[in-house]
Amino acid sequence: MRNDTAATPQAIFRKDYVAPGYWVDTVEMGFDLDLDATHVATRLTMRRNPDSAEKDLVLFGAELKTLQLRLNGVNLKKSAYTIDGETMRIPNAPDEVVLEIETLIKPSKNTSLSGLYASNGNFITQCEAEGFRKITWFPDRPDVMAKYTVVLRADKKKFPVLLGNGNLIEQGDLGDGRHFAKWEDPFKKPSYLFALVAGSLVCQEEKYKLGSGREVLLQVWVEKGNLDKTQHAMDSLKNSIRWDEERFGLELDLDRFMIVATSDFNMGAMENKGLNIFNTKYVLANPSIATDIDYAGIESVVGHEYFHNWTGNRVTCRDWFQLSLKEGLTVFRDQEFSADLVGTSTGRAVKRIEDVRVLRQVQFSEDAGPMAHPVRPDSFVEINNFYTVTIYEKGSEVVRMYYTLLGHDGFRKGMDLYFARHDGQAVECDDFRAAMSDANGRDLTQFERWYSQAGTPRVDVQTHYDAAAQTYEITLSQRCPATPGQPEKLPFHIPVAMGLLNSAGQDMPLHCEGYEAQAGVNSLVLELSAASQTFRFTQVIEQPVASLLRNFSAPVVLNISYSDEELGLLLAHDSDPFNRWEAGQRLATRRLVRLTKAVQAGEPLALDSMFIEALRATLNNDTLDPAFRELVLTLPSEAMIAEEFEVVDPQAIHTARQFARAQISQHLRADLLSAYEQHLTPGKFSPDAVSMAKRSLKNLALSYLLEWVDESTFELAKTQFYDAENMTDRLAALAGISNFRGQPQQQKEAAKALQHFYKEFKKEALVIDKWFMLQATAHTTDVAKVRELMTHKAFTLGNPNRARSLTFNFCNANPAQFHVADGSGYALWAELVIALNKINPQVAARLARSLDRWKKYPLHLQEKMHAALEKVAAAKKLSKDVAEVVTKALAA
Ligand code: TRP
Ligand code: ZN
Repeated sequence: MRNDTAATPQAIFRKDYVAPGYWVDTVEMGFDLDLDATHVATRLTMRRNPDSAEKDLVLFGAELKTLQLRLNGVNLKKSAYTIDGETMRIPNAPDEVVLEIETLIKPSKNTSLSGLYASNGNFITQCEAEGFRKITWFPDRPDVMAKYTVVLRADKKKFPVLLGNGNLIEQGDLGDGRHFAKWEDPFKKPSYLFALVAGSLVCQEEKYKLGSGREVLLQVWVEKGNLDKTQHAMDSLKNSIRWDEERFGLELDLDRFMIVATSDFNMGAMENKGLNIFNTKYVLANPSIATDIDYAGIESVVGHEYFHNWTGNRVTCRDWFQLSLKEGLTVFRDQEFSADLVGTSTGRAVKRIEDVRVLRQVQFSEDAGPMAHPVRPDSFVEINNFYTVTIYEKGSEVVRMYYTLLGHDGFRKGMDLYFARHDGQAVECDDFRAAMSDANGRDLTQFERWYSQAGTPRVDVQTHYDAAAQTYEITLSQRCPATPGQPEKLPFHIPVAMGLLNSAGQDMPLHCEGYEAQAGVNSLVLELSAASQTFRFTQVIEQPVASLLRNFSAPVVLNISYSDEELGLLLAHDSDPFNRWEAGQRLATRRLVRLTKAVQAGEPLALDSMFIEALRATLNNDTLDPAFRELVLTLPSEAMIAEEFEVVDPQAIHTARQFARAQISQHLRADLLSAYEQHLTPGKFSPDAVSMAKRSLKNLALSYLLEWVDESTFELAKTQFYDAENMTDRLAALAGISNFRGQPQQQKEAAKALQHFYKEFKKEALVIDKWFMLQATAHTTDVAKVRELMTHKAFTLGNPNRARSLTFNFCNANPAQFHVADGSGYALWAELVIALNKINPQVAARLARSLDRWKKYPLHLQEKMHAALEKVAAAKKLSKDVAEVVTKALAA
């Protein structure tokens, strides 16, 4: 039995790694699938690892009923092994072992969605990170790789489809209404990549020819009624297969590749060998239910899981501390995949800006809080808590820095060497760094600190222009704030891509001492590796404006004091689109901080015309990609503004940002109306980049227009809502309508529109999630309204997507209401975390993180947050997952 009451959670440490005492060569499993009692028979052939300090045969198991344990044909006596928590130790086992295990498990009772569980009457598995031990006793750790053969047996009527990893080698009837399927995975794999699916499912399938000419079978499996929503996932899969061949020379290694969609899933998707299992959110799409953002999400998650087949499955992780080895690299690959599919240079920049926005908003915040950890952590209590934005998104930035430092071809050489050395192995982050280093003859010793040190480095910039000598000096100084367990940091190796703009906004030729000048190349990657370094440029004929950290070349905060005029120049002219956008964000942030302070001081609010005119010029600049204009016109989020303050005042920030939006709405009214009209997308819906860009600018214009209370724009939104033929336009209009600060008449209309939407889509779970999400994030939704929505018949905490749609969105994305002064938001949060903890610890622990940054709020709010954290910490039967998060928060 699992020890669930973890008052002081026990950490495990990377330094304590010991190789497994036994390897497993083959795994044979037989499942008698029954929702209430599934019988699992497992036969393992194992052999002693002579190189390990571990002499016992060690297995892990959780929540299992063990029916039988036989070692080399002999039943194991109780005295022949010990069990402590999830760990079974068998001492004095021979060098060669055949272990036969029979376990009984209860899928229908499994609400954690880890291990074997039931979803709408079908069987689904989720084994990463440590779910396999909920199926059978096993050395459930990623460095134990074995070949699996699996026989699935089940009632033929209820479970007509039986899927496993690898190839289907046999199937047939068993009589008595039951049937079987035998699956064999030709590749050895760690247990976390095991999967089975059984149930009543239908598929879209297609034969596909690989670059080598070999034909493979692709399938997308869904529940009945959803076959009209699989085309985009199938297209994304084919694009992924082609892209990995072209960009990295990596081919699909199986004859069959399957995707299965389930509505009960803790995360986005899972890369099980040959049998990827997905949250329906990242598979199902058609124009009437999915937004452009959903289409893009499906493309990138399908890509992500497919790319894991090489970066994760063929080469896997030695231990879970190395998680970013596969996740950071695979996120980098999926980001590049999406960027390459768009193709154009501004299209790439748009993707880059979107990715950096997430990094800054979520990862920088994590890095500044009690859960801060290095990309390769040194310890954890519950590995499920470490599937974080630091491991994924910062990990991807670390991989991107190799790409920036080594160049396109150098990076590819490093990848090729990585696979040549490590195919079929379970390795460490250091092995990846060594491959990049050795393939390019580059010393990347100092680069290791990106893996070992947590925290977001600050780079302070000082510049000096000498007109007489025509020299320009840039001094870069780095520091990194303390993080839990790491009071001091050593300097990082930071690539700083840059250029110099002349007064007309054009790139100037670069002559930097110590760097080779290249004709026609006006961007350079400076390498900052000391605490402080000065870079000297010669032949600089006029005072330049430095464009630094182009394309966001490192995950750092860049402190540089630009004047408004310099930012205006960068926004209007920088050849690097990322920094163009960045300049606009700097202009906006400066103003939003000022406005917030004015709100707090009770002073009158005003927005200057320089800023408004810069936005007007961008909005009306038809040479710019509409998607790029949409990004420039979008103000930094309330969460981003909050990062600018020592002490956060969520209501003041909200008031300030809304004021700025209303000003923009008022002053740019005619421009916004014309942008709206010019970017309509009549005709058949298409989720291509050009149409998506148009819709995004049009809908941004609409949301601005609705900020300045005016009945004609309300009518515009209403018309768009009722006439829309796609979910992107419909949802954007509904969001606008329900946030409109109008008269009672319009509030009635808003309620009517929400009702209408609910009725129309009540059978589409993913759309009802949107319906809850939209209300959770509306300005007017307070704690009482959330409680009321929780009693709605469509609401349940038992389904992660539904739970997230309302409660996570309220706690994380409606800060002015969640942080209401009476603390009722925190009380709700505590109730929810405690309730979820009983159902699904992984999901509960995610919500628990909403109070991570409690120290950043005024004392009166801190007190109430502290009380809420204490309440959760004192709850009965707290999972390790939740206990780790609240214990760390309380220690802040
Ligand atoms: N490896 C998965 C991915 O990134 C993540 C994942 C899916 C996961 N389901 C999980 C991690 C459950 C922990 C628990 O693609
Ligand atoms: Zn992944």
